[in-house]
Amino acid sequence: MMLTSEQLMVQAPATAGYDALLKHGLETVNQLMHTAVDSDVTVLRDASRHIIEAGGKRIRPRLMILSYLATDGSPAALNQVSAPAAAIELVHTASVVHDDINDHGVVRRGRPSVNALWGRTFALLTGDFLFTKVYELMAPYRDLNVPLADATVALVEGETLQAQAVKENNFNRETYYQIIGRKTAALFGAAAKIGAMMANAPQNQVDMLYQFGYNIGLAFQIVDDVLDLVGDEKQLGKTSGIDVAQGRGFATAYATETPETVDEADPMVSIKRRVLQGDALEEARRQSRALVEAAVRQLDILPDSPYKQGLIDTAHMVIDREF
Ligand code: IPE
Ligand code: IPE
Ligand code: MG
Ligand code: MG
Repeated sequence: MMLTSEQLMVQAPATAGYDALLKHGLETVNQLMHTAVDSDVTVLRDASRHIIEAGGKRIRPRLMILSYLATDGSPAALNQVSAPAAAIELVHTASVVHDDINDHGVVRRGRPSVNALWGRTFALLTGDFLFTKVYELMAPYRDLNVPLADATVALVEGETLQAQAVKENNFNRETYYQIIGRKTAALFGAAAKIGAMMANAPQNQVDMLYQFGYNIGLAFQIVDDVLDLVGDEKQLGKTSGIDVAQGRGFATAYATETPETVDEADPMVSIKRRVLQGDALEEARRQSRALVEAAVRQLDILPDSPYKQGLIDTAHMVIDREF
């Protein structure tokens, strides 16, 4: 299925304000994803729509759209950003479908995960299907495929390095940052970078926005790991409390470097106790805040606009979120 020019050219409300533009952009992203995953192989279509239509924060397409507008991309041409924004959200969606197989996650976005409903085999194939649909959406976008491909490769490498570190019992703070840089921050960086590239922004703005996205991506994953430990599963809408049980996440990286005082048979209890006794959570909050503050300062080179403010608000959302 190629996208018709009609699908790409739906007119954005050129005179609309910031909120309406962003809302319109994200609605178009949702429509494009819905259409892209149509298939007469109904399992693929239904499982894809199950996960897409469960919602999600859509933070990566939001970053791409805001980055485009903040680097002076034309609001009237916003619909051109919708396909790459849908593509990056499909990469992310595929990654969580596969991630739930690996992590034995049974709840995602407030619904049973794809593997919980359809089983591992169809979840694996649904993730493959979603990754493959990215080619179609990105076909007209030539060189924008490169940063998206780089980030997708990084994501797979990050997930692999993580599985390896867990297996080799080598999960420490250094490996933790290498892992989250690739599995999460690279895609955030690509989202912001591609938005700026679509606006034909000067190279220094394109590079800065990659760094901006990358830094808030690091903060995002650190916060996500804190929420895994202290968050409420209902509110999070996904299986939680599994990082420590599975030997990964911020708390694990931190706790492996904190001496053990009491011998406990259950590693979950042991790590949780050390984390709660120590200042791992405080340190996680400190580090995520510092990353976001650094990211926001990087935006200084952009002219003030409601869209730049939108990027700043998104950066703060990353550390203030409770789900
Ligand atoms: C979850 O990402 C996976 C991580 C990188 C931590 P999100 O928290 O962006 O997931 P959704 O899209 O909102 O469900
Ligand atoms: C999510 O990673 C998948 C990727 C970042 C590729 P996690 O396993 O850390 O995130 P959740 O908690 O399941 O969303
Ligand atoms: Mg995982
Ligand atoms: Mg997971």
